[in-house]
Amino acid sequence: MLPETLRWVGGTDGDLELIDQRKLPAELVYIPCRNTQEVFDAIKDLAVRGAPAIGVTAAYGAFIAARNGGTSLNDTVKALVEGCETLVKARPTAVNLFWALERMKTFGLKTAETKPARDTFLSELLTEAKRIHDEDVAMCHAIGRFGAPLIKENSGVLTHCNAGSLATSFFGTALAVFYEAKNQGRHFKVYADETRPILQGARLTHWELATAGVDVTLICDNMAGYAMQLGKISAVVVGADRIAANGDTANKIGTYSVAVLAHEHHIPFYIAAPISTFDFSIAGGKEIPIEERKADEVRTFGQSRTSLPDAKVWNPAFDVTPARLITAIITDRGVIEEPTTEKIKTFFAQARKGS
Ligand code: MRU
Repeated sequence: MLPETLRWVGGTDGDLELIDQRKLPAELVYIPCRNTQEVFDAIKDLAVRGAPAIGVTAAYGAFIAARNGGTSLNDTVKALVEGCETLVKARPTAVNLFWALERMKTFGLKTAETKPARDTFLSELLTEAKRIHDEDVAMCHAIGRFGAPLIKENSGVLTHCNAGSLATSFFGTALAVFYEAKNQGRHFKVYADETRPILQGARLTHWELATAGVDVTLICDNMAGYAMQLGKISAVVVGADRIAANGDTANKIGTYSVAVLAHEHHIPFYIAAPISTFDFSIAGGKEIPIEERKADEVRTFGQSRTSLPDAKVWNPAFDVTPARLITAIITDRGVIEEPTTEKIKTFFAQARKGS
């Protein structure tokens, strides 16, 4: 049984608790976040990671900032806005962080217009954060339902990084597709890329799938091409941190290489992501900001140093897969095949009509 990635404990005076993903798979422990700085650090230092989980964490973080911010309604609203301005700087690439904070800020400002008592304001703000949390779980299940038919009986599938339950509130995006296919009785093997430099595939995806009873085999990143050449892989499913209006998709570094390999071997390459991962302010992938992380992530492997301590390093945390290499995007509202700006626009127009 998979654990909840994060949980709110108590009422408006409660705390956010997160699985400390830096400690997995050795230890499954929750850490409390009681103030804006603790939420900021948890996101920045990857105690919590994965685009949807970052968004939900930030939503609770916005509430915490407001709650800790003063005794009058005015001060509380001011603290909410300032908290959002701080938290938005925690990581640059996953758009869900910006989306969730914008939603909390807009909700807070609108609610404050009716001049409610501070307690009422806080309780409504917490309810909004919990709504974002609940919607996240629901969208994961929806992605699973839309994506499961793409997993064929007795096939092998590849995933990169962790777009699993741990990267969301529960159930995942790419891995939701596998969980749902398994629930539907299909038999298949998952190959998990270990995902250098900090091994989300080895530490998180392998642990998560094994815990859930999915047949999973861990491979090094540089084995993916050979696995494809030998016919072991018949589909690739990965997550996304941000999808531009034309379908270009930022995801964990190495995703682009996997997409190129899949293209060469005529293997379908799927992105699984909620509609909150689309960023229509960005026309194409070149505009997506790519986080660069500290050099020591590359100079080490786990706790061991693998290079000279001052080795010059370049450490981009994400890359962008052009839309032309993407067979389909599996969302919580349906599947967008061979995405283009036009198809995505039409899909969203229809999704908006349906909701
Ligand atoms: O740096 P991380 O671990 O936050 O990167 C995570 C990924 O790239 C995931 O694939 C992405 O956020 C999708 S999670 C459902």
